[in-house]
Amino acid sequence: MTLAISGTTRLFAIVAHPAHHVRTPQAMNARFAAAGLDAVMVACDVAPEDLAGFVSGLRGVRNFGGLVVTVPHKSAMAALCDRLSPRAEAAGAVNVLRREADGTLSGDLLDGEGFVAGLEAAGHAIAGRRICLVGAGGAASAIALALAARGPARITLLNRSPDKLTALAQRLSAHRPDVGIGIGGPVSGHDLVVNATSLGLRPDDPLPVDVDAVDAGAVVADVVMDPERTELLIRAAARGLIAHPGRAMLEGQLSEMFAFLTRA
Ligand SMILES: NC(=O)c1ccc[n+]([C@@H]2O[C@H](COP(=O)([O-])OP(=O)(O)OC[C@H]3O[C@@H](n4cnc5c(N)ncnc54)[C@H](OP(=O)(O)O)[C@@H]3O)[C@@H](O)[C@H]2O)c1
Repeated sequence: MTLAISGTTRLFAIVAHPAHHVRTPQAMNARFAAAGLDAVMVACDVAPEDLAGFVSGLRGVRNFGGLVVTVPHKSAMAALCDRLSPRAEAAGAVNVLRREADGTLSGDLLDGEGFVAGLEAAGHAIAGRRICLVGAGGAASAIALALAARGPARITLLNRSPDKLTALAQRLSAHRPDVGIGIGGPVSGHDLVVNATSLGLRPDDPLPVDVDAVDAGAVVADVVMDPERTELLIRAAARGLIAHPGRAMLEGQLSEMFAFLTRA
């Protein structure tokens, strides 16, 4: 089924800067068409200094349905929403917002939910598992919150910059005081090791963890999608560990985003 844009079509957008590389419109438009929805998603390249004006203008667009929000706008957009989900509030970031029937804007953060959905779709459980999460940026924060909500045995956080590491640990503990959070230490002793840094994007990047120190039988997951088989995943698979690619997180997110944006 193809999209037929008319005077009744609901408008959705992904806002990014730059925007030429985004793939979400293609994937979301295919889902709109498959569901028979009168809706379209386009990409909007908006510079940070124009973001507030962009959102203010959209508030007056009656057939505007919502936004997917990506780099570099996730934190700034949180301040422009009328309400935030608890996880978006905790992370201080959104990656989707929806225009409600009364014209107000609700923001949520689905990166972490997408990561969890991708893990679960591949049959990897989270409850009761010992997790090592590397990174303390936007993706790592969202993933940490989503993993903590699924009852892991504990989460060990590692990151290059100690200030961001401590800040994430504090946010996570405040949001989920029931989950044991550790800072630093060896990568061994974990069932699931997650690279949520950008290490692996460039061919000369060092590995985010020492793969040889990961326990036998562990799952090694990456958020990096390009290349699809990162050096971390190649080394993990070579050792007989279970390698879980970054693409699974994107696929998980698309379903979560579609459900959020099209919820009546
Ligand atoms: N698969 C998906 O659907 C999906 C979704 C969202 C994001 N991602 C990917 O997730 C990655 C991180 O994105 P983000 O939004 O979290 O970025 P971010 O907020 O900028 O955080 C980057 C993280 O990587 C670490 N890092 C960067 N360069 C490093 C280096 N040379 N050595 C050690 N650590 C380094 C940073 O450590 P410091 O704190 O020390 O700076 C920080 O923890 C990106 O590759 C992005 O493409 C994938």
